[in-house]
Amino acid sequence: MQFSALDYPFYGGDYSPEQWPREVWDEDVRLMREVGVNLVTVGIFAWAHLEPTEGRFEFGWLREVLDLMGEAGIGVDLATPTAAPPPWLTTRYPDALPVDERGARYTHGSRQHFCICSPSYRRFARRIVERVAAELGGHEALRMWHAHNEYACHVPYCYCDHHARSFRSWLERRYGSVQALNDAWGSAFWSQQYSDFAEVMPPRMTPTFANPSQLLDYKRFTSEAFLEEFLEEKEVLKAARPDIPLTTNFMGLHKPLDYFAWARELDVVSTDNYPDPADPHSAALSAMHYDLVRSLNKSVPWMVMEQTSFRVNWRDRNVPKSPGQMRALSYQALARGASGVLFFQWRASRAGAEKFHSALLPHSGQASPVWTEVSQLGRELAQPEPWTTAEVVADVALVFSYANWWAVESSTSPAHDLKMQDQLTWMYLPLYLRCVTLDFASPAEPLERYQALLVPSLYLVTEDEAANIRSYVEQGGTAVISFWSGIVDEHDRVYLGPYGGPLRSLFGCDILDVAPLAPADVVEVEWEDGTKTSATFWLDLAAEPQPQRGKVLARAASGPWAGTPVVVQSNHGKGSVLYIGTRLDHDGMQRVYDLVTALRPAQSDLDAGLSDNVERVVRRSPDRDYEFVINHTDSDRKVLLAAPGYDVLGERPANGTLPLGRRGVAIVRHG
Ligand code: GAL
Repeated sequence: MQFSALDYPFYGGDYSPEQWPREVWDEDVRLMREVGVNLVTVGIFAWAHLEPTEGRFEFGWLREVLDLMGEAGIGVDLATPTAAPPPWLTTRYPDALPVDERGARYTHGSRQHFCICSPSYRRFARRIVERVAAELGGHEALRMWHAHNEYACHVPYCYCDHHARSFRSWLERRYGSVQALNDAWGSAFWSQQYSDFAEVMPPRMTPTFANPSQLLDYKRFTSEAFLEEFLEEKEVLKAARPDIPLTTNFMGLHKPLDYFAWARELDVVSTDNYPDPADPHSAALSAMHYDLVRSLNKSVPWMVMEQTSFRVNWRDRNVPKSPGQMRALSYQALARGASGVLFFQWRASRAGAEKFHSALLPHSGQASPVWTEVSQLGRELAQPEPWTTAEVVADVALVFSYANWWAVESSTSPAHDLKMQDQLTWMYLPLYLRCVTLDFASPAEPLERYQALLVPSLYLVTEDEAANIRSYVEQGGTAVISFWSGIVDEHDRVYLGPYGGPLRSLFGCDILDVAPLAPADVVEVEWEDGTKTSATFWLDLAAEPQPQRGKVLARAASGPWAGTPVVVQSNHGKGSVLYIGTRLDHDGMQRVYDLVTALRPAQSDLDAGLSDNVERVVRRSPDRDYEFVINHTDSDRKVLLAAPGYDVLGERPANGTLPLGRRGVAIVRHG
């Protein structure tokens, strides 16, 4: 496969020529070349154009598009159109439409209106994928296979009878006997004891809380059901052209699919990222999105498949990116390892649900400032500079698992508003602000390469995952572990005894109960040296540790539980753990991170004036480093370089102070 040999980034976007008259296509190609587009995603929602009636295929127009691209030297990321079945299909085979938890069937008229377990949908989906592969698999413009679009985006869960049958078979394979299922689901509670798999339902509408273990298994089952369909598409596409790299576009922190499992099946991980420019933390959240996606399969490249040039259309209020923000966020992706940045979409649509979503080529045409920025970025990315194959330097990992995400939010826990994304952001943000780059890591993967681990609320942890984390620590690692970790096993059953289960020995103290705080409550936290910070949301009722087991670094200093240890340090083998039993505020987190070498800001970054949304990330290749410095603010900033280098974008030596205008970017090459 050619992909990793690229020495320039992909640049382009979704291209839907089927929405436009033929003469527009020539103008498209001309303008694409003008701004340096080198990859377009085509065919993504074109099923009705490729198979207008059942069994009648029309590929001539799409072949012509690929011919035009080939002649212009633009690569094609050829998508299967299975995310939007045509009207004939859903009219003739209504069981291909999904059903909600109340039993109502969705109707045609939007997209993603299919049931992944429906035999009709699967039959026609396979057939159109086979046709795509057969008709265009040999085309010289083909650069990448793109299966489907954003699996499980709008309708992640279907509750139809096809799903009921498939779920039961899945459960039989997983548990073997109905007794084992009853045991795993704790179905002695509320008279849910099953006597036959045939009695088990998908979690359709229930009077009150459904069985949380059932909900968890339904999430596992659904992720695998989508994956099964994806693997079928992959098999067909790869059989036609095994040499063409294959992707499907992920959605960053998207809950319904276990992207770690999915990413193992991809040659290129790709993602769609739409940070909200109105959110003051948008740059940090976007960075977190990219760090996750880069980490899903650490041995393959990744890229941005979609972002917007200016504005989306699906928020209530669609605030646009500021001048320079699109470029800065594109470089953020490239800094964090991306092999390319593509957009939704090339040309803004004239009609349809997304006609007010910005594109590379706006309604107003080339006069738009968007076009100016798009052209600038395209020109810059066309400069050959081999940083796209350099590795992102990240010595710290944030431990994350989908099973945990599913369980921690679907269980009736003491705080129903405990959201994984909040927990991740809570631990991530202070590090982002001190320019510490991190990977995400599954609790099951090898962890030795990291100098420190952050473990936010790993509520569900298996014995094996816990053993992996314990051994990481005992062999010399440092872990920062937060409250609500080690609470349940893989079936969402509580580990009895003081909380923590197989992680308990790492905490340095016993957690005897938990006391979520009222929404407005703020607890004072007093540190050993008498200084104070604060905390909100949650309080573990930690017992006073034996001195040989753990050392209390901070305690709750107000409220009914004053005196309770909230930060406990303990040693294990060659390593150590900092346990945090509450949601410390930003200053509190900085204090914790200051205790761990790998989490401290580099002195050179402090001297440089980095922080507060001036981001610095290093990509390293065997013979040189590329230091990306990105100003995500609307004011001019200055950065002091730790070592002299060469400013790749400015095309001049960089030494001493580097001025960065608002939303400015510099790539400094060292070596
Ligand atoms: C993505 C989707 C695109 C387009 C875009 C708009 O989720 O894949 O087709 O709808 O959002 O932001």
